[in-house]
Amino acid sequence: MTKKLFIKSFGCQMNVYDSERMAEVLAPLGYGRADDSADANMVVLNTCHIREKAAEKVYSELGRLALIKDERAAAGRPMVIAVAGCVAQAEGEEILRRADCVDVVIGPQAYHRLPELVARVARGGGAVLDTDFPTEPKFDHLPQGRTARGVSAFLSVQEGCDKFCTFCVVPYTRGAEYSRPVDQVVAEARQLVEGGAREIVLLGQNVNAYHGDKDGKTWGLGQLIRRLADLDGLARLRYTTSHPLDMDDDLIAAHGEVPALMPYLHLPVQSGSDQILAAMNRRHGIDAYHRVIDRLRASRPDLAVSGDFIVGFPGESDDDFAATLAVIATLGYAQAYSFKYSPRPGTPGAELPDQVPENVKSARLEALQSLLRAQQNAFNAASVGQVLPVLFERTGRHPGQLVGRSPYMQAVHAIAPGAAIGDIVDLRLVEAQANSLAGEPVEPGWAELERTVA
Ligand code: SAH
Ligand code: SF4
Ligand code: F3S
Repeated sequence: MTKKLFIKSFGCQMNVYDSERMAEVLAPLGYGRADDSADANMVVLNTCHIREKAAEKVYSELGRLALIKDERAAAGRPMVIAVAGCVAQAEGEEILRRADCVDVVIGPQAYHRLPELVARVARGGGAVLDTDFPTEPKFDHLPQGRTARGVSAFLSVQEGCDKFCTFCVVPYTRGAEYSRPVDQVVAEARQLVEGGAREIVLLGQNVNAYHGDKDGKTWGLGQLIRRLADLDGLARLRYTTSHPLDMDDDLIAAHGEVPALMPYLHLPVQSGSDQILAAMNRRHGIDAYHRVIDRLRASRPDLAVSGDFIVGFPGESDDDFAATLAVIATLGYAQAYSFKYSPRPGTPGAELPDQVPENVKSARLEALQSLLRAQQNAFNAASVGQVLPVLFERTGRHPGQLVGRSPYMQAVHAIAPGAAIGDIVDLRLVEAQANSLAGEPVEPGWAELERTVA
């Protein structure tokens, strides 16, 4: 590799996946990975447009990069700067106007054309932009060989969204919903496993809307999961993010029937108020959400649930907010993300009257997060004393320490002599700390015995 590439990802896991794919697209051009932007011949910012703060980060990052680019140019070492991802799609030309250090603006559906754009920049003639939604999906044109970069690998199976929640930019930045064909997904999963992945996280902006082609028939996510669970060497499967409306019977049944499918589900509800859910165009009421969770828990009783919440959507009253707290109190979340509503240009929510004042949003977010934090702490505290299989993903801060995940996505660290990254080891959880748990190995076979006794 003669040239160095630095990619920085913002936003969701799909951007992390896309960043890996962009690195693979650029590798044949001689680009290896750099650890630092200052050493890079090319920098890609893979951006997120979901909230105003996320989008603004890009411009501060570009300000910093412009200085590095000037310094390098003065030393005769040119640098190409590309802006990819959802800000690129949403703002396009605007980025070139606001930041003249940018050479390439490329939308999420055009990554396979990155080499061509980089070549055009190299020939001179100024900045280039590609924010088309090509008729042929990019997946058909990306390099076929995948190399896993870790024990847990992301795999995008679905992209885009047709739901048009009134707060959300995703349908505009990622385009219409698209599912990759089953065989393509299975082939990529197999490569990831051969490359050392023990866990695969299936990704989609709306992943449970997956409807991929298999020999002329349409497979849902449940079927895809059952197929992938058969792959030799693959120990764990997860998927994210899901919409409550797309939780079909087969997928719910898979939670009870497929041991590799981990008992942890991110199923955002956003609000607990029917009125706000309607204004958000979520297309379901709160009872329907409770029913879906009940059915999932009937299928998999130990399912740990995670979610996303927005506070301060236009028109949200104290009662609406109280309804959100009530849902959280009733369901019990193992973990969750929560945000203040951020009006996004071009979305219907931004045009609504009754925008909620900032101080009210802040107070609500604080109340909601303190409840969620208490639930997360309680969930982790309840795990202390249990023996759980932990998949080790990396080394920890202390010598000999390994860090991994429990089936419920909890981070667990332990000193486990003889164990290596990629191993699944039964650990007794001995202490719950702020963001992780401490574990100790039990004798081989011992965990099994305990479970039988309990
Ligand atoms: N497809 C997923 C969400 C993807 S966006 C779903 O349907 O649930 C990730 C999260 O960002 C959302 O769940 C929502 O909680 C939050 N979010 C999206 N748009 C937002 C906005 N305008 N302001 C604040 N939070 C937002
Ligand atoms: Fe956005 Fe999710 Fe709604 Fe789609 S379903 S518009 S990705 S929040
Ligand atoms: Fe952000 Fe785009 Fe993902 S807006 S959350 S990077 S789909």
